[in-house]
Amino acid sequence: MKSELINALSRAEIDAIEAEITHLPDRKSAAIDALKIVQSQRGWISDDSLSAIAKLLNMSAAELDGIATFYNLIFRHPVGEQVILFCDSVSCWLMNGEKVCSKLQRTLGIQHGETTADGQYTLLPVTCLGDCDHAPAMMVGESLHHDLTVDNIEAIFK
Ligand code: FES
Repeated sequence: MKSELINALSRAEIDAIEAEITHLPDRKSAAIDALKIVQSQRGWISDDSLSAIAKLLNMSAAELDGIATFYNLIFRHPVGEQVILFCDSVSCWLMNGEKVCSKLQRTLGIQHGETTADGQYTLLPVTCLGDCDHAPAMMVGESLHHDLTVDNIEAIFK
């Protein structure tokens, strides 16, 4: 293993990516899994991490960046400790989602794409979270919150 690669990725990250590759037909097929592994350790994918992952998978950084950019749960910029993914799709719109999200933005003092001053939360829009029966919905980190209203959203962040 080249030392530059080891500097950009930890031994544990490399081992986890190599373990994924063993289940797949070729190294490139591990692209999303590799990005997720590194993001789970570092919170986001820096240019250095992206280049190192690309080398490990025998692909170009540009090719991997295309995948990372297309997949909206891979973060190419630093994010807060928890990412809020607020559903921005039709069922949630119909159930007042935009007003609820506006209330959330006022509560946290951030707009979509921004991080709170204390580094705690980053707010991002996301397409349907698959919880349309309980719209509006959002993920805060790993937790799903639904049946959101302008009256109950604030309490989630207290
Ligand atoms: S449209 Fe929001 S959860 Fe499906």
